[in-house]
Formats: sequence, C-alpha cells, structure tokens
Amino acid sequence: MSEAIRKRLRAVGYPGLERNIVDLGLVEAVEVDGKQVRITLDMANEAAFEAIEGAIRDLLKEYSVEVRLKAKPKRSIHYGSTARPNNRAPYAKRTIAITSGKGGVGKSTVSTNLAIALAQQGYRVGLLDADVYGPDIPRMVGLQEERLRWGANDKIIPAENFGIKVMSVGLTTPAPDTPLVWRSSVAVSALVQFLEDVEWGELDFLLIDMPPGTGDIQLTMAQELPLSCGILVTTPQMVAADDVSRAIVMFQEIGVPIGGLIENMSYFLAPDTKKRYYIFGRDGGKGLAARYAIPFLGEIPLEMEIRSLSDEGRPPVAMGQERHKAYYHQIVERLFAALPQLKV
Ligand SMILES: Nc1ncnc2c1ncn2[C@@H]1O[C@H](COP(=O)(O)OP(=O)(O)OP(=O)(O)O)[C@@H](O)[C@H]1O
Ligand SMILES: [Mg+2]
Repeated sequence: MSEAIRKRLRAVGYPGLERNIVDLGLVEAVEVDGKQVRITLDMANEAAFEAIEGAIRDLLKEYSVEVRLKAKPKRSIHYGSTARPNNRAPYAKRTIAITSGKGGVGKSTVSTNLAIALAQQGYRVGLLDADVYGPDIPRMVGLQEERLRWGANDKIIPAENFGIKVMSVGLTTPAPDTPLVWRSSVAVSALVQFLEDVEWGELDFLLIDMPPGTGDIQLTMAQELPLSCGILVTTPQMVAADDVSRAIVMFQEIGVPIGGLIENMSYFLAPDTKKRYYIFGRDGGKGLAARYAIPFLGEIPLEMEIRSLSDEGRPPVAMGQERHKAYYHQIVERLFAALPQLKV
C-alpha cells in the first residue's frame, strides 16, 4: 500500500524544478494505516516544504494525511554532525567543493576554469562563490559590473557567462570593491540563502569556491549539502605546509570523498622560450597525493597569460591557448576516472 502511495507521489514536483520529490530522494518514509497516511520528507527548505505539503494533501484527498519533516540532529560545530547533511540544493545532481589550506594558491581560478570546462562538455553548471570576504569569481568571468537581479517569486537570478551560472556576494554589493564587514554567522546565512533562494534551475554540477582554510563556512557547506566530493588546490611551495594536510583531514573527518589534488603554479612557463622552470622543485603535489592516498588530478603551470586573462575576465579555458584548455579538461577527465560515480 505504501508503495502505491509512493508511486503516486511522483506527481508532486519540487517547486521550480522539473523533477518530482520521489526521484529527488526527498521521501524518507510513507506509512499507511487504514485511511491515515503519514509521510516523512527529508528536506531543509521550509518554503518548499509548505508548497509540497499542500500538493500532497491535494493529491491524496481521500486520506487523512500527515506530512512531516524528518527530525534533524541538532547542529553543532562538531565535525560529526555532517554525517547526515541537509540537502539545500536538491536541484544539483553533484556538488563539488574546491578548497585549499592557504589563500592565494589559485582556488578561484581553478574553480572558474573547471566549471567552464564542465559546461564545455555539455553539463549544466553552477558556480557558487563561497568566499564572501574576497569574492573574486565575478571578475574572473567578466561579470564584475553585473548586479543582483530578482525574478519571479522573489528568487535571485544568477548571473551567467561562458555557459555557467554564477552567484557571489560580489554581485550584491553596491560596487565590486565594497568591503564586507560581516560576522561569520551572517556570512553563513548569506550562503544558505544563495543555495535556497537563487533560481539555479536544474544543475548537473554545483561547484563551490571555498574561502581559504578550514572554518565555519567549510563546515556549514558540509552540513547543508551532501557534498559529492572535495577538490584540493595547492602550490609547490605549500605542499609541505600543515594547512594542506589539515584540509585533507577535514574532508576525511566529515566524511566527504576527496576527488583529488591539483597542483597549481607547478612550474614557471617562460612566455618567450616556453622553457619550464621548476622553481620550488618537482612533483611535490604528486608526492603529497601519494602520501594521503588521494588522486592526483594534474598540474597547471605558472603563466603570465593565465594571470592576465583571469584578471581581464577572460577565463583561459575559454579564451586562452589550446594548452590552457587541455590543463583543465585533463583534470575533469582524471576526476571522472578517480570518482566514476561523479559522472552524470
Ligand atoms: N596558474 C597560474 N598562473 C598564473 N597566475 C595564476 C595562476 N593561478 C592563479 N593565478 C593568479 O594568482 C592570483 C591568485 O589566484 P586566485 O585568486 O585564484 O587564488 P585563491 O586561492 O582563490 O585566492 P584567495 O585565497 O585570495 O581566494 C590571481 O591573480 C590569479 O590570476
Ligand atoms: Mg579565491
């Protein structure tokens, strides 16, 4: 009986999406007792819950229906609470967090170009700039003059360029260089709003460019989303730094699979002679990946062109040389090889 009702629930769509609540995995339990039906939903968005509850009541008119939310373990800052994360982004089939121990290693550049590489392969991609204090993504994709727009039902419309949808605190401030003075709790709620109140549409991949380090925002993302994997970016100077190991251990402790490690600025590629200079030694990233038994996804050289194109809002994977495209597409290929379940 409960199976029959579960089948009927396929008629109930998720607000704003083309998929239904059963296929999205939101129906935790269906219990039937005579004319009484109790349905438990595993979801976090309260507004969507109300809409869904109404639709279920309309659908199952002949029953006395109780729809409830699955009880959530109380949130705490302890790592353990991410064991059963919320899912505030049911519209995204896969969510990938890009992090690093230290700042300035090229996380945002890598996130941007990976997102575009996935879009070039035909996937529907969103890029969330979770670095609320240093939102660099809008500039990197040539959207720094864009400002927030609101669509129907009070949803934020993400900015779009190079085939990806982008959301960033940088789009909400009066000018691109307005500094943000926010407590971390405010920053965290802004990000949760970006997950819930942005009209992302259906996505194959939601990439999240994390702020540097292993703090509140990283933990919140792991609590609010079932992260499909984390990707680490490092530079040869940083491979020996404790911060990188801390980032690896954080993912392991919160139970997020590690998609792999990318070594950025691996060697300097001389623009004139194309000679490679391994300023900080060779294969440090490979060694680090081997030490932690995580996949090595590739190395990207330090190139003047990568810097200048990125600053001009012309992502190298889209506007650069063939070799630039190859760097990022090879990383995608290795990522799918390392975690085949990531492919949609
Ligand atoms: N492979 C590269 N070659 C040349 N320049 C690069 C490369 N990767 C990144 N950069 C440049 O280095 C600077 C820092 O990169 P990026 O902003 O991506 O780092 P980040 O880790 O996101 O920094 P933050 O911690 O401040 O967010 C930028 O100016 C970027 O253009
Ligand atoms: Mg950044």
